[in-house]
Amino acid sequence: MLQYNICVTGGAGFIGSHFVNFVHKKMGEKAKIIVYDKLTYAADLSRIKGSDVIVVEGDICNTSHFLETLRRYSITHIVNFAAESHVDRSLTDDMPFIQTNILGTANAIECATRFWSDASEGFRGKKLIHISTDEVYGSVLLEQLPATEQSVLNPSNPYAATKAAADQLVIGKMRSDGLPALILRSSNVFGKDQNPEKFIPKTFQAIKENKPITVYGKGEQMRRWLDATTYSEIIWLLLSSPVVGEIFNIPGKEDFTNLELVQLIRAIYKEETKRESSEIQFTIDRKNHDFCYHISGEKLERWLVTLDKNIEYRKISDFIASEIKKS
Ligand SMILES: NC(=O)c1ccc[n+]([C@@H]2O[C@H](COP(=O)([O-])OP(=O)(O)OC[C@H]3O[C@@H](n4cnc5c(N)ncnc54)[C@H](O)[C@@H]3O)[C@@H](O)[C@H]2O)c1
Repeated sequence: MLQYNICVTGGAGFIGSHFVNFVHKKMGEKAKIIVYDKLTYAADLSRIKGSDVIVVEGDICNTSHFLETLRRYSITHIVNFAAESHVDRSLTDDMPFIQTNILGTANAIECATRFWSDASEGFRGKKLIHISTDEVYGSVLLEQLPATEQSVLNPSNPYAATKAAADQLVIGKMRSDGLPALILRSSNVFGKDQNPEKFIPKTFQAIKENKPITVYGKGEQMRRWLDATTYSEIIWLLLSSPVVGEIFNIPGKEDFTNLELVQLIRAIYKEETKRESSEIQFTIDRKNHDFCYHISGEKLERWLVTLDKNIEYRKISDFIASEIKKS
């Protein structure tokens, strides 16, 4: 049986912690999980449910410490969620993004290559999954052909540019050293315990505090949404499969403009609480705000068919209703 000693970088973040909890629930003692996280403002260890999950505080830019962690826990799999992830922050100070997203990824893949290629069995049974984003393709309108995994990378902001650079580094490493890796480019992700600076929790927070709900520009930007648990299941299926050396787009199933999403949240709030929520306030648009992300999920669908696997996608309205009921 394949051994799973999984290092989840950025595992105390939003999606990383969903993935940790998913694997912990599914695999129990059959998978050892090591969260490697710098514990920045975006981390919250209380998101991690399993008491036997090991947490190592560390920076993926730190070669000796990361390498030592891989050795200490005989890591067989790495899922790299560690990142600076908020576009707005990247517009005012891009250095932490360059540091973690580019140099950190370069370091993580170099350490993985060195550690695994030194072992007697080499890369056999090893895999690194690099978590990327649909933002690397830049704005692609719904009426245009969707971006496929072969499309040109065309990022529009420093965050997306650092993610695109990291993707290229992983591609280079797969080709030059044969690193067994995958790159996943997903849509926007929703789910519980997301950082309050992100769109959906920020809207919940404004409603809770009876403050105006701020929306950039006219709220016309279109986003596709994928829930964090479905995404975790897809990551797990890919991690535990023999597939390596590939890129997969992972789109959600529901599209909303930002305004439509806020209107949906307000409507569900009214239905659940019988109260009106706070008003919408339009603010000056983000610089060079991408209008739409449109990625093709055909490659993923074709692959899932070979597994005979039907994936369930949670509806965003069900998530919103459950969060409102909880609050
Ligand atoms: N949230 C989304 O909608 C979304 C959509 C597409 C892609 N992604 C990608 O998914 C990944 C995870 O996103 P998220 O929303 O969970 O992010 P997040 O900001 O919630 O979490 C990032 C985690 O990485 C950790 N971290 C930051 N710098 C680090 C470093 N140098 N070393 C080790 N750990 C470090 C943080 O402490 C935090 O726990 C990112 O790579 C992001 O680009 C996110």
